This record gives sequence, C-alpha cells and structure tokens, in this order.
Amino acid sequence: FADGNQSGDFHRNYHDDRNTSSEETIYATSNGVPMAHPYEAQRVGDNGPLLLQDFHLIDLLSHFDRERIPERVVHAKGGGAHGYYQTTDPLDDLCLADMFQAGKKCPVTVRFSTVGGESGSHDCARDPRGFSVKFRTEEGNWDMVANNTPVFFLRDPAKFPHFIHTQKRDPATHLTHADDSTMFWDYLSQNPESVHQVMILMGDRGIPDGWRKMHGYSGHTVKLINKKGEWVYAQMHMKSKQGTGFITQEDSANYSPDYAQKDLYYAIEKGEYPGWDVMFQTMTPKEAEEVWQKQGINIFDLTHVWPQKQFPLRKVGEFFLNENVQNYFAEIEQVAFSPSHLVPGIEPSADPVLQSRLFSYPDTHRHRVGTNYQQLPVNAPRTAHRIGNFQRDGPMAFNNQGSRPAYLSSIQPIQFNKRSVDLDKTHGQFVGDAVTFLSEIRPEDFNAPRALWENVWDEDAKSRFINNVSGHMQNCHKEEIIKRQIAIFREVSNDIATRLEKATGVKGYDGIANLRFNGSHNGMAKDASL
Ligand code: HEM
Repeated sequence: FADGNQSGDFHRNYHDDRNTSSEETIYATSNGVPMAHPYEAQRVGDNGPLLLQDFHLIDLLSHFDRERIPERVVHAKGGGAHGYYQTTDPLDDLCLADMFQAGKKCPVTVRFSTVGGESGSHDCARDPRGFSVKFRTEEGNWDMVANNTPVFFLRDPAKFPHFIHTQKRDPATHLTHADDSTMFWDYLSQNPESVHQVMILMGDRGIPDGWRKMHGYSGHTVKLINKKGEWVYAQMHMKSKQGTGFITQEDSANYSPDYAQKDLYYAIEKGEYPGWDVMFQTMTPKEAEEVWQKQGINIFDLTHVWPQKQFPLRKVGEFFLNENVQNYFAEIEQVAFSPSHLVPGIEPSADPVLQSRLFSYPDTHRHRVGTNYQQLPVNAPRTAHRIGNFQRDGPMAFNNQGSRPAYLSSIQPIQFNKRSVDLDKTHGQFVGDAVTFLSEIRPEDFNAPRALWENVWDEDAKSRFINNVSGHMQNCHKEEIIKRQIAIFREVSNDIATRLEKATGVKGYDGIANLRFNGSHNGMAKDASL
C-alpha cells in the first residue's frame, strides 16, 4: 500500500494485479492458463458424457458452488462507501489517540445496515440502522460499530440471541414478524427495559430517509485516556451534516428494496459527498458516581442516555464519504468491524454488553470470513510503519510474513513500541453498586421515554407512533401479550396506553406492579417475589 495514510483514496492505494481493464485482461483458468472460449466443454464424441480431466469446466463450476460466504447473523442487509476523516478540533487534552491530534487525517470505510432482515431484505424496513466506521489510523484500525439510536433493547448480553431470534423467521411457520408479530411482542412485553428503544423504533426515527440523513451513536460508554494516563468516560455521536429525515410506514411501501443503497451510491457519483461531525460527551469517574447516586443513570447501561444539557457534545472532527466501492463483495461483504479493534487512547468501559461484543465480533469474523480475515485488503491496517507479529498459516494466509522467525527470536528480534501511558493508571473503573440484577426494572427506565412522549414529539408524531404500534400488533396472535405491552407503555404515559387501547381494542393491565417478567427482575413490583 503506497501512501498508506495520507489521502482518503481507497482504490488508488490498493494495488490489485487483477483489477485491470477489459482490454488488458486475457481469459484464463484460475491457474492462469489462457483459454480460447469460456463456453467450451470436453466430451466424448459429439453427444457423449463430459470428461473429468476438463479442469476448465470443473474450475468454473466448483468455484461457483462456493461463491457465498455466510451472511452476517445480524445486520445482513447493508451498503457503504469509502472516504476520509479529519480532526478539526483536537482532543489531545482528553485522548492520546494519534487521530485526534491537530492536523490528522485518515481514510475511512463506512457500512450502514438494517438489523433483523436477511441480505436481500428491504432497506426501508422499520428497524434500527447499523452505522460502522473503520478509521485507518497511523496506529492501526479503530472501528466504531454504532447504531442510529443512542440506546438499545437490552443491558444483559445473554438476552441478545433471544431478542434477535424474535426478529428472525419462526422455526415452524418460517414467517418473519411482518406477517406474525407474536414472538416480537412476546419478547418485548417480557423485557420492559427495551421500552425506550421500542419508542424510538416505532416512532419516526424507525425508518430513516436513507443512510445519509441519520446520526450515529456509540450507545456504549467508552474510555478516553490522555498522555498523562488520566481518563474520562465518553459517548461518541456522529451528527449528519445532511440533517435527519424519515419515511412514514404507509409511504415506505412506495420505495424500492434498495432505496438507501441507491441513494448513497448516486449521491457520491454526483459528487454530493455526505458528511458527519464526530462529537463526544465526556464524564469523569466522579461524575459517573454522582449520576448514578442522584439520577439513577448507570453509565454502563445502554438503555439509558446521558443528558446533553449536563454533558454537552464537543466536536473533534468530521468525515466524508467521497468514493464508491468498486467491488461490493470485497469491500463491503468482507469488511469486518469490531468494537474490540481499538487504538491506544481509546478503551472499552465495563458495560457488560460492550464487553460481550468485544468477543463476539472477531469470533463471527473467523467463522464468516475466515481465520485470516484481517489480511484482506479492506480489513488490513495501513499504518505508516511496517507491522508484523507471530501469527502464521491458516486458510488463505496470503500475507504470511515471509522468512522472519515465527517465534520471539533472539537472533532476529522485531521492534516493540514504547508504551504510551502507565497502564496501571488507565484500568480503573467506576463500579459503584450499579449492577445487581442486570435487567432489574426501575422507575428511571421510563423517564427518558416519557420525555420523548411529553416534550419531544408533536401530535402528528404521536399519532404516527400509535398507528405504527397498533398496526404491527394486528399480527400478534395472543391478547395477553398486548395487555402486558400496554402496561409497559402505561408506565411511560397513561396517554399512550389509553390511545393504544382504543386503537387495538384490547384493555391493557394497569401498570407493571403486578407483573412477573420471565427475563427481568421487576424492581417495581408490589410483591417482592416478582
Ligand atoms: C453486527 C453481535 C449488540 C451494532 C453484529 C454481528 C454480530 C453482532 C455477531 C455480525 C458481525 C459480522 O458478521 O461482521 C452482537 C452482540 C451484541 C450486539 C452479541 C450484544 C450482546 C450491538 C449493539 C450495537 C451493535 C449494542 C450498536 C450500538 C452492530 C452493527 C453491526 C453489528 C452496526 C454491523 C457491522 C457491519 O456493518 O459489518 N453484531 N451485537 N450491535 N452489530 Fe452487533
């Protein structure tokens, strides 16, 4: 890779021998032997069977048989582009990461996605959107694997596969929740901590107008460490320079299944490069203790947000997408983002969901893409310095690091970087007494959704929300589930519950005080055994 880090030009920096023009290319088998024509087969006589010796045909068919890699288990439908990030307002007082220092610029690859649907599903589905960014910094790759919503459905990682299975096809009917929403509402009505995300999902932000007009949020708290070894907690926001826009449920039927993909691709072709501001909210460990004690906000719980008035956003830089992919499979299907791909100065917090994700992503990459997924051009770091380690072999090890010894050799040692800070200083965590039952339901869980209903949404947004929820509940075949979900919404606001009762014709429970949840300890129960 020439000019590894300076410009944001993905393709100019990637020299692929096979990426030649049609005029330069001669048709050949995979072992490089030129052939006269692709439609030839060796057979016995004019009408006889084919010959096993015909490598050309077997080469063609057997490669075709293996064309697909498993689609992502979540976020399978998506698209993206390349571009560049630049620091506009250095963050060096808070973070030692090279990319946040004055004048720094680095290439990025971004992938947007829906969550639940399969690879061929509609990209205007009502669903959160994934928003992943690979920053190719001089110190290695940093991935921000974010969503377009600041909160999430759960705070106990063990719930994730359960929740996702309710978004997928029913094992018996093979139907999705578009046709049968029973398991979708069953899960949500048993796990009330999801209600903030459910409000956002069923509100206007549930179907953004393409990918350019949405913000991105880390959701999780991370840690920023400065050169002195001091650290703060932080939440990252990516604010769209295009503003935000949404599509209504009714109107979504008028959009093509690849609307968002088309919108992004042709905007970039036309030179209308979308951009986002990169911003941080930060909190000291002491403040984290205080917001837990005084406001009941646990910063390791991504069903909650940090109030922006108290913890204002600070801009550090911006990124733009100015280069379309040339090969979707190589540059988007095989790109592998992970919250554990971090650079010095940025560390994970103790959020249990984040901690689980640190494991899950590289694990799935080894399965979905292969052991040596980091060697593929779209994933390989493009650091200014030559990098090496003692990982060797495995399937498709095309960059196997030459003849250098594959152990820590005293004869041909490699170089080690100087530690940037004293690690003992940076590994502290605020722990408080925040977590007893990870999912325990508390009155604070309903504050932010209530603020959304009472202070943010106007009457039109409210009635669209009621229509979206009641419309989706038409395919929920158990009244008990609807009664429970209405009880959860009643904790947010009695107004939501009564409107939903009218729209669905189902009388919900009075509140959650008498409900037992199969997935969550009910901290608001009258009877302690619930
Ligand atoms: C994709 C697991 C929570 C954002 C994925 C993938 C897995 C996964 C296995 C597929 C990755 C691939 O094949 O490359 C989990 C687990 C979670 C969790 C186990 C919780 C315990 C979250 C949260 C967010 C998130 C909270 C956002 C704040 C994403 C995004 C992608 C993704 C954006 C798509 C990445 C891409 O574009 O390639 N997740 N996830 N996930 N996840 Fe999660």
